[in-house]
Amino acid sequence: MITGASSGLGAEFARQLAPRCQTLVLVARRTEPMEALASELRLEHPDLSVGVLKADLTQSADRAELLKQLASAGLHPDLLVNNAGMGDYGEFVKSDWSKTEAMIRLNVEALTALTHALVPPMIEGGGGSVIQVSSLASILPIPDFAVYAATKAYVTSFSEALRLELREQGIRVTALCPGPVHTNFGEVARRQQTGDESPFREAFYVDAKQVVKEALSGLACNAPRVFPGWKVAAAAAVIGVLPLVLIRLAMGTRPRR
Ligand SMILES: NC(=O)c1ccc[n+]([C@@H]2O[C@H](COP(=O)([O-])OP(=O)(O)OC[C@H]3O[C@@H](n4cnc5c(N)ncnc54)[C@H](OP(=O)(O)O)[C@@H]3O)[C@@H](O)[C@H]2O)c1
Repeated sequence: MITGASSGLGAEFARQLAPRCQTLVLVARRTEPMEALASELRLEHPDLSVGVLKADLTQSADRAELLKQLASAGLHPDLLVNNAGMGDYGEFVKSDWSKTEAMIRLNVEALTALTHALVPPMIEGGGGSVIQVSSLASILPIPDFAVYAATKAYVTSFSEALRLELREQGIRVTALCPGPVHTNFGEVARRQQTGDESPFREAFYVDAKQVVKEALSGLACNAPRVFPGWKVAAAAAVIGVLPLVLIRLAMGTRPRR
């Protein structure tokens, strides 16, 4: 089951998982792009069964309905890709609270609730895997991206602890921590039309195909975290050894959004 499968990384996960799965369940709010993707995948993989489920994952009622639909179809996902997520660029104090609240509900609450509901049946079934889509932002406090970075810090920390809890029970948990990727993410996160990305940031962009390919190979070798692309991996390695005081200095002088 892939959440946030109507665009970006979620749709790419569906494309790359299709040849390896019997059944794919695609979840998001917009059904039209998911139905189009499902038709494309059914044509390419005639033995594949693809289900499209509409849910606003910020809503607990929608999540409950989604779980009900899975149960009534007799589906027990053995791979959960918790990918649905959103960001919000700009100062925290000037943020629209409804957007900030939705971001926390989606990035933190929905991801945790789906993991809580779907991992126990995986354990009963003898094994399974979870990819928690986090971000490079999870290892940095980022001004003008403060709540997003904090939600992803939660995701990476939760993922690391959960994989230790579940390691004896045949469940793999991998945190996928991409740097920037060209998807709809920027459009959703942007508060108003702004200029192009700085060339420095642009240099870190990694193609969605590459991100998903590295995520799936990381899961296959049970990697705790995957930072796709060598520049992003190198940046993560440097950040990991820098003292907090230098990180504060660097973040304090970074161009504002
Ligand atoms: N792109 C990047 O630079 C980047 C970098 C690091 C991490 N990430 C992470 O990668 C993940 C995927 O993002 P993306 O880059 O592929 O962006 P995207 O193209 O905007 O995709 C986001 C997906 O989440 C779904 N979604 C949003 N709100 C939802 C809701 N309330 N209920 C259900 N589904 C919802 C969207 O579908 P609907 O709108 O149809 O609901 C869409 O399918 C996110 O967790 C993001 O934080 C992205």
